[in-house]
Amino acid sequence: MHTVHKTPAVTVTAKATRDLDADLLIIPVFEDDDLAGESELDTASGGEYTRARSRGEFTGKAFEQFLTSVSPGTWKAPRALLVGAGGRKDLTAERLRRIGTIGGLAARQRRMTSVAIALRPVDGVKSDRAVQALVEGAILANFEGMSYKTAEPRPVWLEHVELRLPNGSPDPAQALERGRVLGEYTNVARALSNEPSNILTPREFSDRAKDIAIAAGLRVEVLDEQQIAALEMGLLLGVARGSGQPPRVVVLHHEPKKAAKGVVLGLVGKGITFDTGGISIKSADNMDKMKDDMSGGAAVLCAMAAMSRLNAPVRCIGVIPATENMPGGRAIKPGDILKSAEGKTVEVLNTDAEGRLILGDGLWYARKLGATHLVDVATLTGACVVALGKTTSGLFGTPAWWVEQVRHASERAGDRVWPMPVFDDYKDLLKSEIADFTNTGGHAGGAITGALFVKEFTGNLPWVHIDIAGTAWAEEAKPYQPKGATGVAVRTLAELALDAESWINLT
Ligand code: BES
Ligand code: MN
Ligand code: ZN
Repeated sequence: MHTVHKTPAVTVTAKATRDLDADLLIIPVFEDDDLAGESELDTASGGEYTRARSRGEFTGKAFEQFLTSVSPGTWKAPRALLVGAGGRKDLTAERLRRIGTIGGLAARQRRMTSVAIALRPVDGVKSDRAVQALVEGAILANFEGMSYKTAEPRPVWLEHVELRLPNGSPDPAQALERGRVLGEYTNVARALSNEPSNILTPREFSDRAKDIAIAAGLRVEVLDEQQIAALEMGLLLGVARGSGQPPRVVVLHHEPKKAAKGVVLGLVGKGITFDTGGISIKSADNMDKMKDDMSGGAAVLCAMAAMSRLNAPVRCIGVIPATENMPGGRAIKPGDILKSAEGKTVEVLNTDAEGRLILGDGLWYARKLGATHLVDVATLTGACVVALGKTTSGLFGTPAWWVEQVRHASERAGDRVWPMPVFDDYKDLLKSEIADFTNTGGHAGGAITGALFVKEFTGNLPWVHIDIAGTAWAEEAKPYQPKGATGVAVRTLAELALDAESWINLT
């Protein structure tokens, strides 16, 4: 296997556009652009800019691209890529992030290894957010999904990204570092999700998690099958029974020196390294995609690594229950009863509803370790994909103020979420004749009953559940989003912790 991502060197400068030295110069251009600060663009492009504008070939619509060569003797960079930035008033950090990705991908496709991005003076997006987003975007472009091809040419990596900031911008050092770390760990999560399940077994996942965590300065323990049994995590053990691979629980601790007292963020991520459905087996179509069913776990791991590297000012505990969900002679069967570590009993009506089972024991463990505020992330339900599609994650939880904080964090991160209800009425759908509840509520409201099952294990702490079943994997490439694992929720969770001061006094 060869490297699947690389974090380029990132620098900032205040140089004039003409002096920016890179293989490709990226210039965001608005629909209604007066070229303030870039009045040389037309001369430098040998008149191409005006011609493209008047022909309607380039309008500045969001994410449109126009590549032009630079006339000798004008600007230093040999090529410039104009990227549509849309309406000046509609500019968001997410749009800048995508422009960064477009620029990075465009360079790599042309076998170029350095880009300079000319950030224009922008209103509406704060300077530090703009810097962070552009850096994240450019790093997200430095990722390849295919890592096991032997005949493919080696990918070309961006080695250097230079950001040119408008004169008088505030010190960008912190934003640059945030962008670098969050971009890098989003890619680390993507690489994990892309790994096939014969390579990324629960043991391998926990080994890699350990390495990643230690390198980032986190404290980490990995519970093996004996320790899991000693804790009586009957839901996790039940799911793991059908597999020849033993389960693991990765436990991560972020303990900053300066942290608010009495607040411990508890993050729990679904770590199913492959989901066949178990005895309630899935159909063959697209089953291969179920290698990404540990994306929630990868998001928790990578977000916590980022928190540690960036010194997020809040204590945080991460719990990642990891197992395969397999059929087999020892596998649990529909109708079986499992007992959770917390003591609650579950009638397993469908072995394919395994994610909520392992989250149940994971959430209990996070609470046992002292979590005061919970967030879980999981590729939990196909029903969430039906409800919200493939670009928006489902956001569930209670109380409303806590859900709101996670929503704000996701907005900063550029991970799209949309709120879904957790009304008690839906709980009737989980009624069991012989256990405390069943693990499935049927088709109607399937994403919501999944969330309500998980809620049973939150001990009434503030809790949010993010269903990333639709968003963890991009089926088709977009100019700003390569195909494959997306690393969704890494930045949301990290942003939540980085800006903890904004919610701690609300508790
Ligand atoms: N991992 C799947 C959810 C999933 C489905 C993720 C499609 C990505 C794409 C989960 O474990 C699952 O199988 N859920 C079942 C629950 C049902 C049996 C109640 C589902 O959604 O069908
Ligand atoms: Mn399943
Ligand atoms: Zn699953």
